[in-house]
Amino acid sequence: MAVIEMHGIKREYRMENKKGSSKDESDTIVVRALRGVDFFAEAGEFISVMGPSGSGKSTLMNILGCLDKPSAGTYTLDGIETSKSNSDTFAYIRNRKIGFVFQSFNLLARTTALENVELPLFYSRPWAHRRDKAEKKMNAQTRKERAMTALKEVGLEKRIDHFPSQLSGGQQQRVAIARAMVNDPAFILADEPTGNLDTGMTLEIMGLFQELNRQGKTIIMVTHEPELAVYTRRIITLRDGQLVADKKVTSRRNALYDLKQWKKDHALLSETAS
Ligand SMILES: Nc1ncnc2c1ncn2[C@@H]1O[C@H](COP(=O)(O)OP(=O)(O)OP(=O)(O)O)[C@@H](O)[C@H]1O
Ligand SMILES: [Mg+2]
Repeated sequence: MAVIEMHGIKREYRMENKKGSSKDESDTIVVRALRGVDFFAEAGEFISVMGPSGSGKSTLMNILGCLDKPSAGTYTLDGIETSKSNSDTFAYIRNRKIGFVFQSFNLLARTTALENVELPLFYSRPWAHRRDKAEKKMNAQTRKERAMTALKEVGLEKRIDHFPSQLSGGQQQRVAIARAMVNDPAFILADEPTGNLDTGMTLEIMGLFQELNRQGKTIIMVTHEPELAVYTRRIITLRDGQLVADKKVTSRRNALYDLKQWKKDHALLSETAS
């Protein structure tokens, strides 16, 4: 089933040229960040979005994540035509259909791991009355159970009462991934999710994504690093606002295997150093 269908997506940013002294002289500069992108994704895919700086990756992610609307083209997410939706529906889609994972984790500092993961379940309630009656009745106990399940899936059931500052970077990103999954979204959108992590933690997170994907989760990840893209199943490349390559990953690597190997080498290194 197609989760994402994008046809002819364009995004233009219009800016007044401030040099003009009078209004007549000022002309508008148009930046064409996306110039007609067609992109389709099926449920269960694991896709890397690559491309040089300024090629339009963040612009595309913002549109995919329903944080921004295209200037032209259509975007259908899980059967919903997003460009026709009003701001209420747009917010509903963002909250229920997409799980966001950011480079900087974006966890609330004075809030435990469990409470951080529960957050999207609170936000989803205002729309519940129209969308889903069972959802409206979600009580504190159900919320807690759902957050617990998500934390278990990322292997953090023993850290539920920890605050972000009491967790390692990799663990904080796991909490963020649990939070992204708690609403059972149509896909997870990850923007350079390992950008702030060291090699070991990066491999752990990639291993977790691979495991979640094996269980059927759909993941789209922006990355600058070809070494990370090989853990996904498909790589799309943007250049100057156009999709210039769309390739299946042929020799896919196993992140947990690489992690084991890395740990071995690491131990060996510290042994020789001492
Ligand atoms: N709000 C904006 N107003 C005007 N131009 C913008 C705006 N946002 C992005 N652009 C321009 O659109 C183009 C695409 O930007 P985008 O942020 O999508 O690139 P990117 O691929 O994410 O780059 P990076 O890898 O550096 O994050 C760039 O030329 C950028 O200067
Ligand atoms: Mg960017």
